[in-house]
Amino acid sequence: MSATLIDGKAFAATVREKVATHVARLKDEHGLTPGLAVVIVGDDPASHVYVRSKGKATVEAGMKSVEHRLDADTSEEALLTLVEQLNTDPSIHGILVQLPLPGHLNEDLVINAIDPAKDVDGFHISNVGLLGTGQKSMVPCTPLGCLMMLRDHHGSLSGLDAVVIGRSNIVGKPMAQLLLGDSCTVTIAHSRTKDLPEVVRRADIVVAAVGRPEMVPGDWIKPGATVIDVGINRIDAPEKGEGKTRLVGDCHFESCAEVAGAITPVPGGVGPMTIACLLANTVTACCRANSLAEPEGLTA
Ligand code: GUN
Repeated sequence: MSATLIDGKAFAATVREKVATHVARLKDEHGLTPGLAVVIVGDDPASHVYVRSKGKATVEAGMKSVEHRLDADTSEEALLTLVEQLNTDPSIHGILVQLPLPGHLNEDLVINAIDPAKDVDGFHISNVGLLGTGQKSMVPCTPLGCLMMLRDHHGSLSGLDAVVIGRSNIVGKPMAQLLLGDSCTVTIAHSRTKDLPEVVRRADIVVAAVGRPEMVPGDWIKPGATVIDVGINRIDAPEKGEGKTRLVGDCHFESCAEVAGAITPVPGGVGPMTIACLLANTVTACCRANSLAEPEGLTA
């Protein structure tokens, strides 16, 4: 391997430390405790694991954590009533409704019912519009984490060719907007892109967010490029024993690491940054709600 490893776990620890320091200052100087409410509907095991770790990290940063666990058959009306309660609760600065929601609930309707100022996921249509027009907004956590790592590694991103593979609302599209905001030349590639290998070979920065295990091989990567692998895919690992599995990204790590200048591993790359940025967004939302200065280096 010749690439520099971008250690997301270590970077996330520094972000969480900055958050905790700012939280302590808000308490000492202003008597404020940032509060994050997470709402989960139904019993998807993976979602419950995520929500538990979000709650734990929130408390560890010194913030208030509230979890609302609702039955899978909760009505849209009941969910909207809860969102409205949280919108008006002054002790809550951030609201996250865990996705996906059960099929009978309209995700767009629920997300757009959240007060945009408390939308720490950055999914509300107002925040999407603000980000797209270069205005101050809440920024989706995973792309924000990727941007922080890229800025840390490169300093300025100005003029670099960036290719984002994947056009999801949660990662691909906001990632492209953030890179454009930092003056990259941005291409969003997806499943219908013609000659994807050639498109990726032009990139100084590759952000892979497609959810297809090891889809990007090393020979698609321009020598020296930076590879940010957002994918977290569980695959069979018979070499570890019968029934064993392992996590891999959307990039084939070994071959990409031979060619790239820098690369994020899976696990331990982008993943830990997502929760760190959720905490950062909660502090930012609390500061904005109280017209206080925002923490340095924790926003886009
Ligand atoms: N489900 C998977 N990722 C996310 C996320 O970032 N936010 C929310 N609300 N739900 C998710």
